[in-house]
Amino acid sequence: MLCIGSVKLDNSLLMAPMAGYTTLAFRLMVKKLGAGCVSSEMVSANGLTRSHKKTTDYLKSHPAEKPLSVQIFGSHPEVMAMAAEMAVEAGADLVDINMGCPVRKVVKTGAGAALLKDPGQVARIVSAVRSACSCPVTVKIRAGWSPAGPVAIEIARVIEDCGADAVTVHPRYATQGFSVPADWAWIGRIKERLSIPVIGNGDIFEPSSALRMKKETGCDGVMIGRGAIGNPWIFRQVATMSQGLPEAQPSLSERRSFILDHFGLLCESVEEQRAALAIRGLLLSCTRGLPHSSQFRASIAQIKNRGTLVNTIDNYFSKLENGQT
Ligand SMILES: Cc1cc2nc3c(=O)[nH]c(=O)nc-3n(C[C@H](O)[C@H](O)[C@H](O)COP(=O)(O)O)c2cc1C
Repeated sequence: MLCIGSVKLDNSLLMAPMAGYTTLAFRLMVKKLGAGCVSSEMVSANGLTRSHKKTTDYLKSHPAEKPLSVQIFGSHPEVMAMAAEMAVEAGADLVDINMGCPVRKVVKTGAGAALLKDPGQVARIVSAVRSACSCPVTVKIRAGWSPAGPVAIEIARVIEDCGADAVTVHPRYATQGFSVPADWAWIGRIKERLSIPVIGNGDIFEPSSALRMKKETGCDGVMIGRGAIGNPWIFRQVATMSQGLPEAQPSLSERRSFILDHFGLLCESVEEQRAALAIRGLLLSCTRGLPHSSQFRASIAQIKNRGTLVNTIDNYFSKLENGQT
């Protein structure tokens, strides 16, 4: 079990915040599949404090996904503090500060990974959010902005000294993108120097890698991003593997339920056409390796009507279950 401040997680596996993916619907699905903690995608502190409707919509949550971490980004301590208060009021159990986003639109405002260049501003933001927040505060960082420094160890120490309850380390420099493998050695170095929990993140695509990251780095928790988009069952698979049991592949009926339940949840929050589009993006992970899966995915590409989509998905899986394809 992993405790972040006063919040106890069921297990030490966390779903990474991912813009465009970690919607309320997806979070509810991976929570059911065994994630110990789910996170919103990054939410603009400026947008929240100016009450932009689209931004405040990101704060919508459901009791079944708890504990929920809401991630905020911004560069002004007071605005970040106000946004953190709003997130807590809306139901966040943890507030996470983004210090890793390398996207130009974000870093040019001094937010996201740009903060890694400025330990003084890191201190001001973490202190302001800490004082404003009644719940635990976490920070997600990278190895640094670039190898020229300052690097994650210095930043992580500042974060701990300012009262944060945990730090997540995605060990790539902001200048690197995904072009190089995550360097897990950074996670171990930071774990050695901090007393708050350290969560490791980066390149967990197989359940065995999560166990290996824990063993090699001593990290307290493992955060999974792209690996869980491609295989949302990975959380359960890590749990079974850590008990020495073989990795269980999802059954056909589990794959069918994942798609249909997820689609149903999406339809509750966005219009059907957008939900259909979103679900198509996730179909690959649920049908990879199944007979005639590429024809199936092509066949539903044009369907926008909810009933027809559900029937087509149902028929495909029924045929597979009856051995008819
Ligand atoms: C499409 C996409 C969206 C992401 N959005 C966010 C985000 O909103 N906040 C954040 O801190 N990191 C974001 N990340 C980074 C991930 O949280 C994670 O740190 C990174 O993907 C490395 O972990 P992985 O190898 O398990 O995917 C995003 C990554 C991807 C690929």
